[in-house]
Amino acid sequence: MRIFNKSLKLIKLVVLLLFTQALTAGEGMWLPLLLESLNEDEMKNMGLKLSAEDIYSVNKSSLKDAIVHFGGFCTAEVISNKGLLLTNHHCGYGQIQSHTTLENNYLRDGFWAMKKEEELANPGLFARFILRMEDVSDDMLAGVTDDMDSQKRQSIIDKNMEMVRAKYEQDLPAYDDIVIRPFYHGNEYYMFVTRTFNDVRLVGAPPESVGKYGSDTDNWVWPRHTGDFAMFRIYAGPDNLPADYSPDNKPYVPKHSLPISVDGVEEGDFTMVFGFPGRTTSYLPASAVKQTVEVLNPAKINIRETALDIIDKYMRVDPQVKIQYASKFARVANYWKKWIGESQGIEATDGIGKKLEMEKEFLSRLNKSPELKSKYGNLLSDFEKLYKDIEPYAKSRDYYNEVVFRNVEILRAVSLSDRLVSALENNGEEGYKNMKQRLTSGFYNGFYKDYRPEIDQEVCAALMELYKKNVPFKGLTSPLDKMTNTRDGMGDYTSMAKKLYGSSFFTSESDFEEVMGMAPEEAVAKIKADPLYTFMEGMKAQYSEIVEGKYNAYNDQITEKQRLYMKALMEVFPEKRMYPDANSTMRITYGKVNGYHPRDAVYYTPVTYLDGAMAKYKPGDYEFDMPAKLIELYEKKDYGRYAADNGKMPICFIGTNHTTGGNSGSPAIDANGNLIGLNFDRAWEGTMSDINYDPSICRNIMVDARYILFIVDKFAGATHLTYEMNLVTPKKMANATHTPPIIDKGKRKKGKSKIKVKGPDPKQ
Ligand code: ARG
Ligand code: ASP
Repeated sequence: MRIFNKSLKLIKLVVLLLFTQALTAGEGMWLPLLLESLNEDEMKNMGLKLSAEDIYSVNKSSLKDAIVHFGGFCTAEVISNKGLLLTNHHCGYGQIQSHTTLENNYLRDGFWAMKKEEELANPGLFARFILRMEDVSDDMLAGVTDDMDSQKRQSIIDKNMEMVRAKYEQDLPAYDDIVIRPFYHGNEYYMFVTRTFNDVRLVGAPPESVGKYGSDTDNWVWPRHTGDFAMFRIYAGPDNLPADYSPDNKPYVPKHSLPISVDGVEEGDFTMVFGFPGRTTSYLPASAVKQTVEVLNPAKINIRETALDIIDKYMRVDPQVKIQYASKFARVANYWKKWIGESQGIEATDGIGKKLEMEKEFLSRLNKSPELKSKYGNLLSDFEKLYKDIEPYAKSRDYYNEVVFRNVEILRAVSLSDRLVSALENNGEEGYKNMKQRLTSGFYNGFYKDYRPEIDQEVCAALMELYKKNVPFKGLTSPLDKMTNTRDGMGDYTSMAKKLYGSSFFTSESDFEEVMGMAPEEAVAKIKADPLYTFMEGMKAQYSEIVEGKYNAYNDQITEKQRLYMKALMEVFPEKRMYPDANSTMRITYGKVNGYHPRDAVYYTPVTYLDGAMAKYKPGDYEFDMPAKLIELYEKKDYGRYAADNGKMPICFIGTNHTTGGNSGSPAIDANGNLIGLNFDRAWEGTMSDINYDPSICRNIMVDARYILFIVDKFAGATHLTYEMNLVTPKKMANATHTPPIIDKGKRKKGKSKIKVKGPDPKQ
């Protein structure tokens, strides 16, 4: 008995130690309004000089007033009192590309508006602030219990949601909105009041050879040398409130804008990252992680690799294709590579083994409490069974989504046309016309500009063959089998694609427009007779008959179990402070500037320099070319005031902040609330942090603020922008031997800093 008690204590100690280590090292994406109760002490111990109230407040301006959700997929921050926004080059990529032509090649050459009139409008792009947030769990969960079936539960929650919405929506102006989101897998709910600006203009972007330096080869990799930033500006109406685009709109005056520190960083410095992380799954059972690593990731990786190889072949030889496919290629390549790193990282850190360990401890704690055991005793075995049952459906679903919806481009275009068919059938000519208006000004507008049927046809042939070989249900491929028409169905996919693409009106913009110009009846008849349309409808019908219903039914059960499991984890491990999984709401993560050991005997230091970019330079290469001007500045060591104390030009740095997709463009903020960097990526070995954060190797990658300023000021000569910003040197101020009046608003001579301050010894 004593031995048992002792080992229990030991286990508790180990769990506690592991936990404490994880915390100081940066795991967690925390809610700004809970910082005071959950994180403030720890953050201060780690070096923060601000209070929780300085970071998030509803009563006074705080850091959160400088942070926006950028287009709903990235983060950006306000860095001047004229609404100047900083985000990543890859976040603004779609916009930069849309303004790019062979004559005005902003992707290749960069773009800098030298005055406000030159800033470029971006229809559809928005910047969304969070005015405040509130815990609405009690209202949202009133009347629900754990033993309810999930449909009943959902219907009560839906009703509650309407009531909560109605309560908060009252008196809100049209540009403000309410968002209510589940947290902790539906065990808690928070409400956000948002304010959205729709006039967001492109101000500047470096050339790709800076903003995307290293491209897909270096993507997700440390050491990194990418200046992944771009600048936009929020415009507002005469009252400084949101307004639709108008040339008369004025730069927005923010409640707060982030000062930028030109002091730089060193190992051990406190950092926090403020933004909108999209999705993490930190609390999955081992059975789910195993499925991701062994079945789903390999399937998706294979599909994307096949498509990317084909597109890459065309992009390398045709500059027009390179522009047309740049954005699409980067998007597809990004997660292709991420999944590879994720699977490897889980393996390397024994992520599944660690989950199993934790589950063992979970079960042993349940065994000591009949009450807990009766509530949660079956969860893990239920998961085991459910994940097994869902597997063929989940695999089919990934295949279907990746092949049919994502990577064969024309099928998306074809698929949308059935809305025209049903609009006419259900709502007559009027309905048809409305739908046509929506689609031709939405998806179809711009689709053909960047579409090359010959490339897509080749992708289609290759992916349909994969689909045929790998989907676990025979019936899913029956429309394909009809077209390939051989005994074993493994027919000639190249001829099949050729025939389909050659006889469809969808693959040609002018043919498509001709059909759109016809009377509704006639157009719909044309659509229905189109071979790609019948093919697509066939594929859809098979998928929905064989997979959709089953998948959804299993998935609903898994979702409900996951909610219970989350609740169970919090109850069974009360000593753990658990953060809610990311869900595209505003979060703060904090950590330290920190290198890591990627493998035995190798240590990666946390800062890269322009010297490292030069070492990778390959003239004329599509990933590692560098602009002549940058090389010249490098050779002259002409870095202005932006050089590090060692005389070198820093480019990127890494830290232990726990980030994910959506955190791109998030500011890295120092202990005093100044911007020191711009988050844009994670290091290869740790890309599994979405599933299994491991403090030893999970690192986020940021562009050093000094590199951004150097590129804007010295490289691009857009000095008027640096004048707009508030540049500060808090570290140097603290160490200065005489007064350093460093905030320079427009008085500075270009490239010269007359201020002499004694910097800190970098080795200390
Ligand atoms: N990996 C980063 C993120 O997930 C950057 C992606 C953009 N760059 C690229 N080469 N695709 O978004
Ligand atoms: N690059 C990601 C983004 O675009 C960030 C990440 O996944 O670390 O949000």
